[in-house]
Amino acid sequence: MKFALVATLLALTALGIAIGGCQCEIVQFIFGDSLSDVGNNYYLSKGLAKANNPWYGIDFGNGLPNGRFCNGRTIADIIGDKMGLPRPPAFLDPSLTEDMIMQNGVNYASGGGGILNETGTYFIQRFSLYKQIELFQGTKELIREKIGDNETENFLQKSLYVVALGSNDFINNYLMPVYSDSWTYDADGFVKYLTDTLRAQLTILHSLGARQLMVFGLGPMGCIPLQRVLSTSGGCQEKTNKLALSFNQATSKMLEDLSSKLPNASFRFGDAYDVINDLISNPVKYGFNNSDSPCCSWGKIRPALTCIPLSKLCKDRSKYVFWDEYHPTDSANELVANEIIRKMGLSRSGSSDAPSAAPDAAPSPQG
Ligand SMILES: *[C@@H]1O[C@H](CO)[C@@H](O)[C@H](O)[C@H]1NC(C)=O
Ligand SMILES: *[C@@H]1O[C@H](CO)[C@@H](O)[C@H](O)[C@H]1NC(C)=O
Ligand SMILES: *[C@@H]1O[C@H](CO)[C@@H](O)[C@H](O)[C@H]1NC(C)=O
Ligand SMILES: *[C@@H]1O[C@H](CO)[C@@H](O)[C@H](O)[C@H]1NC(C)=O
Repeated sequence: MKFALVATLLALTALGIAIGGCQCEIVQFIFGDSLSDVGNNYYLSKGLAKANNPWYGIDFGNGLPNGRFCNGRTIADIIGDKMGLPRPPAFLDPSLTEDMIMQNGVNYASGGGGILNETGTYFIQRFSLYKQIELFQGTKELIREKIGDNETENFLQKSLYVVALGSNDFINNYLMPVYSDSWTYDADGFVKYLTDTLRAQLTILHSLGARQLMVFGLGPMGCIPLQRVLSTSGGCQEKTNKLALSFNQATSKMLEDLSSKLPNASFRFGDAYDVINDLISNPVKYGFNNSDSPCCSWGKIRPALTCIPLSKLCKDRSKYVFWDEYHPTDSANELVANEIIRKMGLSRSGSSDAPSAAPDAAPSPQG
């Protein structure tokens, strides 16, 4: 298993031992959408997909909005923490420096972004996956100027890569009749178009140095509160869930094939579809109390689209699966992260101290 190697490398770097002549840390480069955004959209002045207002971030650090589309941590935050890796700062974080990149990696994820360039144009400003890869290429140049070609290749080949996009390509593209993709493709054709595009993108990442890479699959996105409001019964949109399953299956197969063709590549698929589906059907079994409506909502007006300062919060955020119309809560993300860790057999180095996994508690300003 290649990830056993990662654990060994982590142990080595924790002891300060250089590997392959490179004194560098093992860090993560994260590519994604709002489920992984840690502040890029926060800094995009014209973008409409933002998490800059209360109550976003209420259960994270000082409780102020930090750009995460959640009350607390993202899935990638939690997985990285549990593997003993530093949290990569947002690419647009004004304090980002080469040294920070070498120590912590970079997160390029952007709310509203998709695998396809045409996804989410409605949000005006966001980084699609191609754009995120272009930005990573720029990062590579910066590092190269600082530490030279060989060290840069070493560093990037040892780093971990997370790619987590796809839901916007459905929710904010294929399933919206204003986008031409919705009338150009049938479901199978669209899933093939998406996975072919993703394959080309991952091949570029490999050419730039990515060797250890994880792609996160989609959850039952037909059950997000926004999709439920669209159905007359308030139930999950099974058609949308089928698309997610079909994307997951095709992506998993594509990654197996890609891993066998690209030299030294360990490109792996991890999803938590079944667990999230079970959580949504049986919330009480997992200690949750609500799995169909957003914790942060604006009176009876649904869909509220985003959580705003006038919104009311649910009484106990740890018992809600969904934070807003689209995004899971910190507690649901923890369940998903644990499932991905279990399925992929990810482990942490035992030699370094665990970063605090739980977000700092913040007082609740509302009921
Ligand atoms: C997608 O956008 C990138 C720029 O971010 C561009 O280089 C690329 O050609 C575009 N691809 C397609 C298929 O439009
Ligand atoms: C970089 O690697 C190449 C081939 O492995 C080697 O010939 C060259 O001397 C190295 N350059 C530096 C600056 O270490
Ligand atoms: C694959 O790994 C081997 C051993 O670490 C290394 O020598 C070789 O350069 C790698 N090839 C590529 C294309 O990464
Ligand atoms: C959640 O808790 C409330 C109040 O305790 C209760 O009335 C409701 O039935 C619970 N819902 C679920 C899904 O367990």
